[in-house]
Amino acid sequence: MIDRREFLTIAGLSGAAIFFNFNNILHATIKEEEKVMAYTAKDYSKLIGMEGFSETLLKNHFTLYQGYVTNTNKVLDTLGQMLKDGKTATPEFAELKRRLGWEFNGMRLHEYYFENLGGKKGGINKAGSLAKKMTEDFGSYEMWEKDFKAVGTMRGIGWAVLYQDSANGRLINFWINEHDVSHPAGCNPLLIMDVFEHAFMIDYGLKRADYVEAFFKNIDWSAVEAKIK
Ligand SMILES: [Fe+2]
Repeated sequence: MIDRREFLTIAGLSGAAIFFNFNNILHATIKEEEKVMAYTAKDYSKLIGMEGFSETLLKNHFTLYQGYVTNTNKVLDTLGQMLKDGKTATPEFAELKRRLGWEFNGMRLHEYYFENLGGKKGGINKAGSLAKKMTEDFGSYEMWEKDFKAVGTMRGIGWAVLYQDSANGRLINFWINEHDVSHPAGCNPLLIMDVFEHAFMIDYGLKRADYVEAFFKNIDWSAVEAKIK
């Protein structure tokens, strides 16, 4: 984007009227950008009442998620302003760019997580395309589940994610450290399980495996299957 001085030079014009009009255009442009860039926290309150998840735990988790949305907007707005102000070659800009992956993924992964919960009882459709693909890639649905649960009960904080490689369709369970480290490039996340302590400690203490069992009882398999390509 050209700055105010360049604009006046290019136009070969000066004066209060043009300056005023340009300010209006600039203001309108920023307002439009803000409208496009702002993220809004989604409402997942329908999950309250899910078996194995207390209302207190879920409400705390929703609040934490809302914080990621707020911070994603703040970081993006601040970076945008630094770009306009010519402050990109600064340590502050670099650190905020590093921070963006943390905040953005903290927002988006929580959305995926909440959206693949709240399913009806009955488990995966064994005749469906996802279960068939799991059998192809892991030997059976049960072997896939064993692998995913093993990832989810690893020591450390992060996420267990079933990814599908867009290049060849292969299913792979990944450990994602925190929010922003080790996402596989070019892969599509199908099933996302939060294994940060805040996701389970209020209800389960250190018994993470029990939380994983509760998570499995509430997976919305139709939402997961809809993502497979
Ligand atoms: Fe979380």
